[in-house]
Amino acid sequence: MTKRLAVIAGDGIGPEVVREALVTLAAVEDVFHPGIQVEHLPYGADHYLRTGETIPAAEMQRLGSDFDAILVGALGDPRVPGNEHARDILLGMRFQLDLFVNERPARLIDERLTPLKGKTPRDLDLIVFRENTEGLYVSVGGTFKQGTPDEIAIAEELNTRKGVERIVRYAFAWATGHGKTRVTMADKANAIPAHQLWRRVFDEVGREHPNIQRDTRYIDAMAMDLVRTPESFQVIVTGNLFGDILSDLASILVGGLGLAPSANRHPGRVTMYEPVHGSAPQLAGKDVANPMAAILTLAIMLDDLGVHEGARVVEQAVYDAITSGIGTADVGGTMGTRAVGEWIGRRVRRGSAAK
Ligand SMILES: NC(=O)c1ccc[n+]([C@@H]2O[C@H](COP(=O)([O-])OP(=O)(O)OC[C@H]3O[C@@H](n4cnc5c(N)ncnc54)[C@H](O)[C@@H]3O)[C@@H](O)[C@H]2O)c1
Repeated sequence: MTKRLAVIAGDGIGPEVVREALVTLAAVEDVFHPGIQVEHLPYGADHYLRTGETIPAAEMQRLGSDFDAILVGALGDPRVPGNEHARDILLGMRFQLDLFVNERPARLIDERLTPLKGKTPRDLDLIVFRENTEGLYVSVGGTFKQGTPDEIAIAEELNTRKGVERIVRYAFAWATGHGKTRVTMADKANAIPAHQLWRRVFDEVGREHPNIQRDTRYIDAMAMDLVRTPESFQVIVTGNLFGDILSDLASILVGGLGLAPSANRHPGRVTMYEPVHGSAPQLAGKDVANPMAAILTLAIMLDDLGVHEGARVVEQAVYDAITSGIGTADVGGTMGTRAVGEWIGRRVRRGSAAK
């Protein structure tokens, strides 16, 4: 049965890494024939600067109703200093399609990629579930007396019972379904009383999972512990801002943003897949961006679409590349974006033929 994939390659290195993800997808198509039909959508900085349009409301609606998956490169361009197109497109998808789960796994493939002394792949295998629709990202607030010495800037942090509960429930259910034994929640309840809501909900929902150990930390201590004892973390659940920061930290512990995939979900609806990294404008057009984050993101998508063998072969091809020293400069390699993508594509074809 045909599946429909919408692709928004976006800005900067977005189109370069998405191109390689699609090279990998073409290899998967040749071998496993999942029947994934790709439709390219033009939204991004170029389109915005040319037409004044970020993303039409009807297109956003179509993304929610007509596709089985959405793959995004990255959004953000120095020619749009206010980032309004990125906000409309990216936050638009997260908020309007209500994709409340931002899933960001961080797994160490090879010891040489971690900056932590003495840590091995056994010590670094965790997943961050970041609340994706609330927190400080809701644009509640504003500025007053802008540009004067009396300027005031206010951003309100929104935490709803429903919003907190659904992400916490998702994290515990995921942990149970994946044989994990501990869920850690990060907040700042000691200084921000509103975060007591997170603590109460975490405790209530956690009690429904007696086989899962509940662990709560303040975000500052959590950042420290993630570096000091990464092996003590399996599943992390937290709010929008803390999740954004912690997942970048987690990614650098396992080799950097060039290897960090993610998915934005709402069970029962279309999922939006994107590498964690941004558009890295300083790398754009130079054939130096690491496409592996986008390719590992594709593997998550394939799993969700039921192409499990394809997903395993893609993951294995990335692991093989890393362990054979194949890669872009950020992971210690000497190859360009395209050459890495093509190597992985060939590996997918060969890896599956070897079975
Ligand atoms: N989801 C998204 O689309 C997203 C996420 C973060 C930032 N952004 C936007 O991207 C733009 C740049 O932001 P930034 O510089 O803070 O974040 P960034 O993720 O683009 O870059 C951060 C650092 O990581 C490196 N990096 C990122 N991706 C890489 C890759 N694939 N291979 C090798 N190195 C890589 C960059 O060179 C840079 O040093 C901004 O406009 C920002 O708003 C978009």
